[in-house]
Amino acid sequence: MKSTSKTKEIQTNSSSNLLVLGATGQVGKLVANNLRRSEANFSVGTRRKANLEELTDRFGASRFIDLDDPRTFDHALKGITGIFLITGYTVDMLVQSKSLIDAAKRNGVDHIVHLGAFTRDHDAYATVFAWHQMIETYLRDSGIAWTNLHPNMFMQSFLSVWSLKGGEYSAYTSKAIGFTALEDVAEAAAVILMEGPEKHNGKDYWFSADALTPHQVAETLTAATGRKFRAAVRKAEGFQNDAAQPGSAFEPAYAKGGFELFRQVEDGRMAYIGSVRDDTKKLLGREPLLLNGWAKLHANELLEAAGMAAPPATEVAPKDGIPSTLASFVKANNDRDADSVTACFSKDPVVYDDGQIMRGAEEIRQWIAELFRKFQYVVAPTNVRELTNGAILTATITGNFPGARVSLDYNCRTLGDKIEVMVIQPTPVAK
Ligand SMILES: NC(=O)c1ccc[n+]([C@@H]2O[C@H](COP(=O)([O-])OP(=O)(O)OC[C@H]3O[C@@H](n4cnc5c(N)ncnc54)[C@H](OP(=O)(O)O)[C@@H]3O)[C@@H](O)[C@H]2O)c1
Repeated sequence: MKSTSKTKEIQTNSSSNLLVLGATGQVGKLVANNLRRSEANFSVGTRRKANLEELTDRFGASRFIDLDDPRTFDHALKGITGIFLITGYTVDMLVQSKSLIDAAKRNGVDHIVHLGAFTRDHDAYATVFAWHQMIETYLRDSGIAWTNLHPNMFMQSFLSVWSLKGGEYSAYTSKAIGFTALEDVAEAAAVILMEGPEKHNGKDYWFSADALTPHQVAETLTAATGRKFRAAVRKAEGFQNDAAQPGSAFEPAYAKGGFELFRQVEDGRMAYIGSVRDDTKKLLGREPLLLNGWAKLHANELLEAAGMAAPPATEVAPKDGIPSTLASFVKANNDRDADSVTACFSKDPVVYDDGQIMRGAEEIRQWIAELFRKFQYVVAPTNVRELTNGAILTATITGNFPGARVSLDYNCRTLGDKIEVMVIQPTPVAK
């Protein structure tokens, strides 16, 4: 349940009918969130029949498509004008992408937006990078209008199971690496899909906003979370073992590509991975997230991934005023009073609403006013948990938004009795 105030005017092609692949994964989900917020005409594709209904509730429409079975493609592509082409962390991406491009051509799809890698230097020989380049070459040759996105290392990688264990950042090269926030890549992808091939055919866009050495990463995470992080530079070979741990999405051939990448960054052949080149501002009219800002928004997830969850509330005195600020926030929402909602925040606040970021009081006021304009809803608190530097409010929201009912966590960092950072995410389902 969310809405947006854009810094950039999007010229939506209203006749477009988009298909977003990978909506159960990290990038595709955020792309679909952005499209839904912009009320674009789109479906999400999934190979999981059991998930079709839930995805329809969430995004408005879903279609069955299994990238490993081209027989499912023609039905899934009926009436589709634009595709967000994303594949998982497997070598199958080659045949999956090729057969989908063939089917797109057959079915008259106008535009494919492909999520590739940061192949800034054409001479890239790490396997995953070469695979993406080969898909892009095939796409360019297909005659379908194309746009290639080239993200560098996702900041979200810090949340993977092995990356920050015990507060130690495992780096596989001593050299700098460029990072991008998925929030930027996904919002840009949604805008490109909506604006269509008239504006974006034949374009390559780059996403590498912040280049940092391992020690700079550790310092940045320490500053953003208030807990001490250290960096440990391991041998590039170590990536293959670490990436093969249970819960990893990487298959062995992909993990080998990671090893090659880090080795070539270390010896200088892929030094460009440590460079900044970013088209977020060109596409979205705003600066990209740097690691410091991204880590502040994801501080609790980072601490959880590191096994350094915030200390229990009893370690510190509860902050006066937090529950009452949250109570005011709830009341102002239920009163549909955008000014009173805004007054709950500090002078320089940030709100992160499941992939959408509002900075400053004015953007927050516009965001909430637009929510009020689009939806009737009621916020009913079910729990408040006080933390060292804030609180988590859990509430059930009911209203006339897709799904009609959702439980959300409002994870707030506070400054005095005002909210400085609010991260809104679906309440995790108890395991
Ligand atoms: N990690 C990085 O730093 C980085 C940087 C640059 C580029 N990339 C690229 O990002 C891509 C991965 O994105 P991600 O992180 O969003 O991946 P992800 O979270 O693993 O999601 C992959 C998605 O693809 C879907 N999928 C896999 N096989 C499928 C099939 N046979 N049919 C239909 N759907 C299928 C998955 O659906 P299910 O739920 O059904 O499995 C899932 O929704 C890769 O191409 C990678 O090279 C990653």
